[in-house]
Amino acid sequence: MSGPSLKVSNRSKMPPFMAMDVMRLAAELEADGGDIVHLEVGQPCSPAPQKVIDALAASMGQLKTHGYSVALGIPELRLRIADHYEQWYGQRIGPERVAVTVGSSMAFAISFLAAFDIGDKIAIPNPGYPAYRNLMLGMGLEPVTLNAGPSEGWVPKLKDMEKWDKLPDGLMIASPHNPTGVVIPDNELKDICEWCDKSGVRLISDEIYHGLSYKGRCETALKYTDNVIVINSLSKYFSMTGWRIGWMILPEQLLNTAEKLAQNLYISAPTPNQIAAIAAFDCSEELDQNIRRYKENRNLLLSGLPAEFLGNAAPCDGAFYIYADISALSVDSINFAKKLLDETGVATTPGVDFDPINGHRYLRLSFAGSTQTMHEAVKRINEFVLTYKRDAA
Ligand SMILES: Cc1ncc(COP(=O)(O)O)c(C=O)c1O
Repeated sequence: MSGPSLKVSNRSKMPPFMAMDVMRLAAELEADGGDIVHLEVGQPCSPAPQKVIDALAASMGQLKTHGYSVALGIPELRLRIADHYEQWYGQRIGPERVAVTVGSSMAFAISFLAAFDIGDKIAIPNPGYPAYRNLMLGMGLEPVTLNAGPSEGWVPKLKDMEKWDKLPDGLMIASPHNPTGVVIPDNELKDICEWCDKSGVRLISDEIYHGLSYKGRCETALKYTDNVIVINSLSKYFSMTGWRIGWMILPEQLLNTAEKLAQNLYISAPTPNQIAAIAAFDCSEELDQNIRRYKENRNLLLSGLPAEFLGNAAPCDGAFYIYADISALSVDSINFAKKLLDETGVATTPGVDFDPINGHRYLRLSFAGSTQTMHEAVKRINEFVLTYKRDAA
């Protein structure tokens, strides 16, 4: 039905989140009977921990489960998250600095609105998680690219920002990183935190992949500064993507603003899920089994995929991604991913989702699925690459 041409905002004209688009396409193929191997989305195939499921079931009859909670989250969960920092990192955090959010995705929106004004510049690593850039654009902020590719050892370098005419208002970092799985070494994290404090740059540290590192535990940026906004969630290590529970640890100066934003943006995170989420922090035995699976999956892909398909892949010391450099085969990652999906049923995410400059040379592979899925992926990709090279010869 056609109607008058009404206004659609210009600022919302952001690029799609391609991993989600590929997921939709793969789901459509699956609904038509396609046999799809999912390497496209960063979502654990394991369920939420049993104690969380039990806690949810036990809470359902209680009246307190049915209403809103206060905007920053139920006190018991805020306290448990504060304790988690003491247990994991030896950092004492006052529970009043914890804000429970609807996934870490909502924490981005709150922190960007709380800390920055329209036109402010925020440095973001490239490649990086697409929602940082897309959300910033939608909010009238200016994301500025900080290279974190092979020439930088995949870690953003402070010296690059120091060369700029004007320092940015903010800096966003993520370690372990999506899409590369790279972990910022502890001494560099310390330097970044100290430099931000010294330079008056607001630091936001996305720590959503903490707990998923294959070479020792990651430190939180809170160890080095109280001015950082730390963002995390139950989606990845805790295997609870759909529960939509995230959190922020805020500097005192932003608490009041963040509370008002939360009240107006979402009122509260889902109350039953908040109640059940308290149990998630006592499930390390069950969750560490997932890590064993990720390690096995990672090794399977790294040892089983063709060298031309992995190329100069990033180190993937954390998270559950391999950022494969397919440039020996193709420099058009969108069409390559499409051909791979069409011909083999293996769904991957084109690198352009994460890097508008060089992403045409990369594909992101998620190994959050089952080990059987990884075996199948290795088999199908090897066959595909053989045919691809024969056809190209
Ligand atoms: C780096 C990073 N941050 C944040 C998110 C969003 O997570 P959620 O909103 O489920 O907490 C993701 C999801 O893949 C991610 O990769």
